[in-house]
Amino acid sequence: MKRYISYSRVEGEASRQAHCDLPEGTYEREMSKEGFFGPAAFFHHRHPPTGWSEFEGPLRPRAFDLTQLDAVADSPWAAGEVLCNAHCRIRFWRASGKMDHLARNADGDELMFVHRGHGELYCDFGHLSFEAGDYIVLPRGTMWRLECAEPVMALLIEATNASYMLPDKGLLGNHAIFDAAMLDTPRIDDAFRAQQTERTWRVAIKRRNQISTATYPFNPLDAIGWHGELSVCRINVRDIRPLMSHRYHLPPSAHTTFLAGRFVVCTFAPRPFESDPRALKVPFFHNNDDYEEVIFYHAGDFFSRDNIHPGMMTFHPSGFTHGPHPKALERMFEQTKHATDEYAVMIDTRDALEVGGPASTVEWAGYVDSWRGSRK
Ligand SMILES: [Fe+2]
Repeated sequence: MKRYISYSRVEGEASRQAHCDLPEGTYEREMSKEGFFGPAAFFHHRHPPTGWSEFEGPLRPRAFDLTQLDAVADSPWAAGEVLCNAHCRIRFWRASGKMDHLARNADGDELMFVHRGHGELYCDFGHLSFEAGDYIVLPRGTMWRLECAEPVMALLIEATNASYMLPDKGLLGNHAIFDAAMLDTPRIDDAFRAQQTERTWRVAIKRRNQISTATYPFNPLDAIGWHGELSVCRINVRDIRPLMSHRYHLPPSAHTTFLAGRFVVCTFAPRPFESDPRALKVPFFHNNDDYEEVIFYHAGDFFSRDNIHPGMMTFHPSGFTHGPHPKALERMFEQTKHATDEYAVMIDTRDALEVGGPASTVEWAGYVDSWRGSRK
């Protein structure tokens, strides 16, 4: 049996409720274990914790404009690598037309997030249409291909040697955030049966991040039926009903959508701002020292970030204090908007991420300086 060295103290001039009742003119910074689940401390600083005048060395926040990765790849295995570690591999894929082969990931479950475009997915389990905003979970070993009705941009998030799971909803009950009945699964329908031809098909199998090819003299997506509790499934971000409190700024972990072995995927969906005058209305300053934080901006106006547009990705490594940009801090007190309209996908990994070659070609180098000017 082991437990954290954990106690609750109030020292100096301090609030006793996180994210609320800050001493006049102070900036709150959270330092915490286990993402936002473990022991934490909340400091009340006299200056914004991101008000540095210089930032040097290998630790730095990064931002990538993935929309500038314009190479179209006919296979997901040729998609540009953005960030990766031993437990998570994030790629950005531009696809168009019909794939002329099947893909199969033998390294782990794949989560596809469709940023733009729509079309049809054919897989072992049947046929499923897809559109922008869809999360599609492809269990490890699934054979699949896309027929894009218009060009597609998608994130591919591999849970290397692991499976995607749903979070425990705890006090909220099973049907909060999204009901499992909202998960769509492929159908064995006329379109699926119509593609069961006798012509030659290749299956590009990825194992240990190397590709092998199995060739069949027929289309191996030839099931006439199946049963079981494992399948490809899909949910769209518009069907996610985010948690919020009018009196408390909830941590990102409240927006967890999927969990894998060593990372979580959260969805930020439009929600009202907190209305209690004593509650914080923007993300608090924090270190999140146990996790690397990645956010992909899908749609809307990103209220807490300057110069970020849809299709961009930010990467905040562990140990880097961050929080709202200067403009967001100012807007916090203006109350001109009552709700966010942003959709974003957050990927928080327990282990350090490496930046892939393609991502480094579309980096916005000025990101580290974008908090400058927050000094008051
Ligand atoms: Fe963060």
